[in-house]
Amino acid sequence: MKRDEKIFELIQKERVRQESGIELIASENFTSPQVMEAMGSVLTNKYAEGLPGKRYYGGCEVVDVVETLAIERVKELFGASWANVQPHSGAQANAAVMLAVLKPGDKILGFDLSHGGHLTHGSTVNFSGKLYEPTFYGVEKETGLIDWNKVVDQIRSEKPKLVIAGASAYSRDWNYEAMRGACDEVGALLMADISHPSGLIAKGLLNDPLKHCHIVTSTTHKTLRGPRGGVIMMGEDFENPWGLKTPKGKTRMMSSLLDSGVFPGTQGGPLEHVIAGKAIAFGECLTDEYGAYVQQVRANAQAMNKAFIDKGYDVISGGTDNHLMLIDLRSKNISGKLAENTLIKADITINKNMVPFDDKSPFVTSGIRVGTAAVTTRGLVEADMPRIVEFIDRTLMNHENDNEIAVVREEINAWMNQFPLFKGYEG
Ligand SMILES: Cc1ncc(COP(=O)(O)O)c(C=O)c1O
Repeated sequence: MKRDEKIFELIQKERVRQESGIELIASENFTSPQVMEAMGSVLTNKYAEGLPGKRYYGGCEVVDVVETLAIERVKELFGASWANVQPHSGAQANAAVMLAVLKPGDKILGFDLSHGGHLTHGSTVNFSGKLYEPTFYGVEKETGLIDWNKVVDQIRSEKPKLVIAGASAYSRDWNYEAMRGACDEVGALLMADISHPSGLIAKGLLNDPLKHCHIVTSTTHKTLRGPRGGVIMMGEDFENPWGLKTPKGKTRMMSSLLDSGVFPGTQGGPLEHVIAGKAIAFGECLTDEYGAYVQQVRANAQAMNKAFIDKGYDVISGGTDNHLMLIDLRSKNISGKLAENTLIKADITINKNMVPFDDKSPFVTSGIRVGTAAVTTRGLVEADMPRIVEFIDRTLMNHENDNEIAVVREEINAWMNQFPLFKGYEG
């Protein structure tokens, strides 16, 4: 077969883009060469519907070992008692859980999308808001913080079937314990979606959701630095006091319901090449080196937060406990959309983001979200964060001056050249 030069040229172009700019999208990271190697391997050819040892296809001896390693490693990493590593993405993991534990029309309570929540936590444009009855909690206008007493009161008054902890753009920690107490009072299930801070949680830098939540979901490609994908875990709540049933009407333990929520509920064959990448990434996360990495991610986020505040930027809640922060640009008279479009001209990648109580549409937004997971992988430390913020500020303050932005871009490209990515990887 003729080599598809067109696509490989585009891959090279994307590699150069990643290498030459400053990557601040909070949900992105640079996975290791060995993870990418596994994802480009022959494992992509294998069908393996079912679970290790219980497949609907022959020839699964090797992928069974791969998937079992991924399961064992992620359990060790988070101290979980059970895991399913097959969800193709974070959204798929959440869909599988909801299919397993809810009936259409059941009430769910999630963190408001416009305050930093995720689409799959009940947004009306997503399956979670179309199939179930969504209600939301949010942050306080004055502080930008979640008031846990109010969340507890809301759980008591709404009496949802499922409560969802977790966010895409909340820079503070979660009070899973308070949420669980209220859930137990009203017989609700508690799920934490830790997609963003999962790496920091794995290394004990943030509260442990597995101690308090019935179910925990995560992506594997953000702070965990693995391949794009999802995972579902459980701590200790295997009982099924709700009498939840499989589609065939059988009452099962929670773990078994969740397995069937993934397959056959919402997915077909698992992506074993990606699961191999997950196994490698979980193995990497078990090392002390990764522990030092997530410490640095947080230290960098705190240094970046200070640098933004020093330059007069309005950081929601005034600080960060994790790897990200949300910045309200209204005081600078710049929309999130303008900021995103201007910064990309300087090879700085961020995303526009709604801020709590935003008066602009999701396509325009009043804010931006930034995170330090990717630049930390690249080798940047606290002392580099003011320089990044200086570049951002110079670019935004000169958003009508393309010459100045071009100068900033050249400086950034030269700086990033000193931090090579993907050493030894030619893919
Ligand atoms: C909290 C949260 N959950 C789920 C997802 C969805 O993950 P994916 O894009 O892999 O479907 C995201 C993605 O950003 C997220 O932030």
